[in-house]
Amino acid sequence: MKRRYLINYNDFCDTKNFDVVIIGAGIGGIYTALMLPKNLKIAILSKKNIYDCDSYLAQGGIAASIDDDNRKLHVDDTMNAGCYVNNIDAVNTLVYESSDAIDSLIDLGVNFDKDENGNFYRSFEGNHSIPRILHVHGDSTGKGIMEILIKRAKIAPNIVIMSNIFALDIVDSKNIYTGITAFYNDKLIYLKSKCCIIASGGIGQLFSKTTNADILTGDGIAMAIRADVNLADMEYIQFHPTALYSKENNFKKMFLISEAVRGEGAILRNKSGSRFMEEYDKRMELAPRDIVARAISDQMKKNYSDYVYLDATMYDKNFLKNRFNKIYTECENNNIEIYKDYIPVTPAQHYFMGGIKVDLFGRTSMKNLYAVGECSCTGVHGANRLASNSLMEAVVFGKQIANDIKYRIKDIKNIHEHVSGNINFEFEEGNFSLLKLKNDLKVIMENNVGIVRTVENVKFASRVVREVLSKLENMNFRNVEGVEVYNMYEVSKNIIDAVLESDSSLGSNYIEDYSKNKLVLR
Ligand code: SIN
Repeated sequence: MKRRYLINYNDFCDTKNFDVVIIGAGIGGIYTALMLPKNLKIAILSKKNIYDCDSYLAQGGIAASIDDDNRKLHVDDTMNAGCYVNNIDAVNTLVYESSDAIDSLIDLGVNFDKDENGNFYRSFEGNHSIPRILHVHGDSTGKGIMEILIKRAKIAPNIVIMSNIFALDIVDSKNIYTGITAFYNDKLIYLKSKCCIIASGGIGQLFSKTTNADILTGDGIAMAIRADVNLADMEYIQFHPTALYSKENNFKKMFLISEAVRGEGAILRNKSGSRFMEEYDKRMELAPRDIVARAISDQMKKNYSDYVYLDATMYDKNFLKNRFNKIYTECENNNIEIYKDYIPVTPAQHYFMGGIKVDLFGRTSMKNLYAVGECSCTGVHGANRLASNSLMEAVVFGKQIANDIKYRIKDIKNIHEHVSGNINFEFEEGNFSLLKLKNDLKVIMENNVGIVRTVENVKFASRVVREVLSKLENMNFRNVEGVEVYNMYEVSKNIIDAVLESDSSLGSNYIEDYSKNKLVLR
């Protein structure tokens, strides 16, 4: 039986009071905090160090329909990438609000790159019909944005940033949010607030190959699952086609080679050096991500190879060094000179389209509980996210949430839910090794619930995950690592169930049984 609370709580818990608690310190969490009224007392919770998040790592950029860009085209590109199962209202909100969102980031101090005429340098990525990706310092967009936002949040008198805090459970009273419990400075604490925003990011660490930061174990989604908050689109997981291949990188965060490199014209070659994308899609290297990832995985299988190559040698050293300095440097550190060597790349888990179901104002199925960014599902991405729409999603819907809270907060009462019980934070590891449980799960998910799925493989994963979960469900946890592992299995089970419930193959939920083995069928 699914457990409702991880631990039992007693009166020894410290209680802290806020107006808004935000779980997660990526772009969704921090930007939303900055947009909330300045008279609200806000806590931003960071699982580890505040710089330790996926937003900080983002390279390619932020997709925006600005100036002369035809808004309708951005809507169409997003729908087409998402296989037309996107929530059209969410897509319209994303696109039509994107220009204001860019203005708001500029107002906060973000400096987007410009060309020699002083216009924004807008680049191409997969399935965008025109160049519309803005970036900061070439391929360091996330860092460029996050450093500004973090600086702003640190000096805001109404915002408290709590680092190294692990959120455990959502506490509610008859489906009305009342607070969260967390593990902080070796203590269990209760954070009471009028509302809460889950902005805890993705789930990359459920897979052995991922570009996601090490902290991304789906904790916010697992909290929502325990609290019976509705989820959506859990079957849609995006694999980025081009993570830098290295023999040692299994189980570690992989370095991304941005889609923007293909956007500038780089091409994919197989082990024997032949360009192969035309076998799969006429858009070639700039087809939607799910198609390119499947094509690469097919080539790797056919050629008994762990990688394919990305060839950017048509560009000169200076261009590559300036435009993609981070990538240039990382490859150089790996003895790859990208102006003359092909870059070995392999697909890796990158983004989660599903998550906590929210409406256009980020509201979940629990009153006063919101979610934003990758852990949330507005339905904007459909079955496969359009490149560089994610940072924009966090900003646009973060603003929507801030506006909603601004109008509602005066009517929200603090509910005094008594949190009591016995602390029982003992994880009886017995024969379990947490690291082994984690790594076993990553392999199971990678091999069975990855880029190409079969019903048989997913059913196998279901059996294994359920068996481990049945043991974890009865355990007490001594440390956050135990909780993290439990969260990972809980989220995986929900992903697996969603895949098994789907009776067709679509976009990133590619199920061979239903797709007649045509890798490009969507
Ligand atoms: C990239 O730079 O390729 C990643 C951008 C994204 O995930 O949309």
